[in-house]
Amino acid sequence: MCGIVGILGKEPVSGQLLEALKRLEYRGYDSAGVATVENGELGRRRAEGKLHNLEARLSDDPLMGRLGIGHTRWATHGAPTEANAHPHMTTRVSVVHNGIIENFKQLRSELESAGVEFSTDTDTEVIAHLVSREMDAGHDPAVAVQHALGQLEGAFALAFIFKDHDNLMIAARQGSPLAVGYGDGEMYLGSDAIALAPFTDTISYLEDGDWVVMTREGLAIRDRQGAAVERPLQKSVASALMVDKGNHRHFMAKEIHEQPEMVGHTLANFIDFANSRVQLPDMPFEFSSLDRISISACGTAYFAGLVAKYWFEKLARLPVEIDVASEFRYRDVPMEAGGLSLFISQSGETADTLAALRYCREQGQTIVSIVNVRESSIERDSDAVLPTLAGPEIGVASTKAFTCQLSVLACLAIAAGRARGTLSEETEIELVDALSEVPRHMSAILRDGRTYDALAHSLAKASDVLYLGRGVNYPIALEGALKLKEISYIHAEGYAAGELKHGPIALIDETMPVVVVAPRDAMFEKTLSNVQEAAARGGRIVFLSDAEEKAAGCDLMAAIKLPAVHSFTTPLIYALPMQLIAYHTAVFLGTDVDQPRNLAKSVTVE
Ligand code: F6R
Repeated sequence: MCGIVGILGKEPVSGQLLEALKRLEYRGYDSAGVATVENGELGRRRAEGKLHNLEARLSDDPLMGRLGIGHTRWATHGAPTEANAHPHMTTRVSVVHNGIIENFKQLRSELESAGVEFSTDTDTEVIAHLVSREMDAGHDPAVAVQHALGQLEGAFALAFIFKDHDNLMIAARQGSPLAVGYGDGEMYLGSDAIALAPFTDTISYLEDGDWVVMTREGLAIRDRQGAAVERPLQKSVASALMVDKGNHRHFMAKEIHEQPEMVGHTLANFIDFANSRVQLPDMPFEFSSLDRISISACGTAYFAGLVAKYWFEKLARLPVEIDVASEFRYRDVPMEAGGLSLFISQSGETADTLAALRYCREQGQTIVSIVNVRESSIERDSDAVLPTLAGPEIGVASTKAFTCQLSVLACLAIAAGRARGTLSEETEIELVDALSEVPRHMSAILRDGRTYDALAHSLAKASDVLYLGRGVNYPIALEGALKLKEISYIHAEGYAAGELKHGPIALIDETMPVVVVAPRDAMFEKTLSNVQEAAARGGRIVFLSDAEEKAAGCDLMAAIKLPAVHSFTTPLIYALPMQLIAYHTAVFLGTDVDQPRNLAKSVTVE
């Protein structure tokens, strides 16, 4: 998703702007640009595609301003061309924008009727013209921005610089994240603390409705009503994080291989291993007085929630209503005050999840979130947070965050069962012991890279792939299909194995690989029958199981042996082959594994 940076520096800032933009690359983007003010003049450079194109542009034609803004764009309005890349500008002002201006068409036609000519298809350009018009009317930049903000509807973060102002930057936040950073005679602005980490660890997060006037000497923050406000200074932990690929070819590979360690850390945060007991921090609700939980999340995080539905309902006899956040937020869901709403998000910034959270707050729910990025908007808007300790996840396709989310949810479900009297102490010990073995089993799977490499050669030839699973592993089949789609661009669908005969079986012929998640659990025999049905129609089976010999006799593309584990932890274990299949197939096909086309890491627009 778009990323914003801004620097009021002592030296020319375009190099630092590029460095900060590189740290926002993980959010996904399709073009980039910077603008600076040099001796009162606005100058900008933009380029389509990757940041090295912008870097080349700047090296051919440098910008020397000591004050500047930068942007990575993920197209929403208008194609990802250089002309549509940010910053956008008029003769008076240059602006970068993350988010969507919902009333831009109306604003644009008003401006066009007044004779303003537009040079891009973006919603952002209206902002530059609105501010310019206010300045033409004689207002200083701060008043001009304030008036323009009053006309904008939607969710956005903005940063402005102005002609003839060598020591002024103005920024605003309405829905999209924005942090200001404090340096020594320098000031910074960024979509997140990771962007600012090379320059400062002292930051403040702007709140919704805030806008800020910054100079090198300091800043003044105002809220939506124009009242002066202060936002607390924080020491960001992001500065300590070195984000590199280690010995791996891609961030995704590194993150897949970090799972034994990160899942171990996350479990250790909620488990007393010495006594095999779950230990949650104090929570602002009692499981025993709940009659249901609602869960909202998007994409992979939603699948983690779907696994948790099986766990909560079985272990704690607690009904779970779960929905993708983009549907939930518009469904007008009736909720009884005092309920528990759970939100799951790696980035903590997903716009749909955040909107669903705010809806639940208005309905009087207690808000608990499972987030990976600390200090994120979802964490800050929650009554309690259960962190996943996955470390920074840079590959766009979520891997280690997913298994860490499952780890937290597994602990939460056990705690719920104990608190509600539906789970005995012996079973708690049994389940906790099973969880404690997960990192070891994960390591064993990760040693087997060659199996997946060989499979990738066959899968890469397919144009469609079916994934099947049952029960708690049905969401794992959905996750496997999502992983393959997003990084290899091969069409894939996940189905509950029992649904096969109700439609998708019509698709099966000898060109169709069918990946089956089949741990030897209570559903195993049923899953085997579904495998036979698919195989009888020519489907080429990829059988993932601890009883792989049971698929003998089918036309197998591969039978992959997985460790025999407790049925409770199978989703954590079988998530890894899903990731490895997708990863090796994408590498074989030569796609951009860490930044697949059209996708963004942090989806801050709805
Ligand atoms: C898929 C993927 C996405 C995210 C989704 C939610 O690999 O990464 O489906 O899971 O966009 O993002 P977060 O977890 O940041 O809310």
